Amino acid sequence: MKIVYYPDEGLLKPTIAVTNFGEKLKYGVTKMFRIMKEQNGIGLAANQIGSIGSVFVVDIPFKEMNLTRVFVNPRLELSGDMISIKEGCLSFPGISVEVPRHSICKISYQDLDGKEHQEIFQGLPAIVCQHEMDHLEGKTFIDNLPALTQTEIRAKLVSK
Ligand code: CO
Repeated sequence: MKIVYYPDEGLLKPTIAVTNFGEKLKYGVTKMFRIMKEQNGIGLAANQIGSIGSVFVVDIPFKEMNLTRVFVNPRLELSGDMISIKEGCLSFPGISVEVPRHSICKISYQDLDGKEHQEIFQGLPAIVCQHEMDHLEGKTFIDNLPALTQTEIRAKLVSK
């Protein structure tokens, strides 16, 4: 399985809640981590590799900020000031753009065994969670930008 590129229709429809916490899920998540690391990504949503389950993985490898997690059926509650950093996306090769995001993100999710968890993230992990949650909802990071900017980005992707 490879990365699915925008505007593949799999990226444009919401994912479906995971109900089966078995080996297949664990295998799929292992694959997601492998592909994400191969591509030097720090987050990846299941629909970016053609799966339909509501799952994303995060692997932030920096010394000052380190986070490795699997989020199954995540729900976000956003708060705090708006912040932005230049975001890239493995489904949008070569595109890097600032996206307004909330600085604080409370995430409720299940792990690979179906156990419920809740965590609060700030800064980069909060941004990554919002970026990946967009994917699971059938949106992408450019949906948060003005229409004209979206059009420019689409034109850039097509001209490649
Ligand atoms: Co992305």
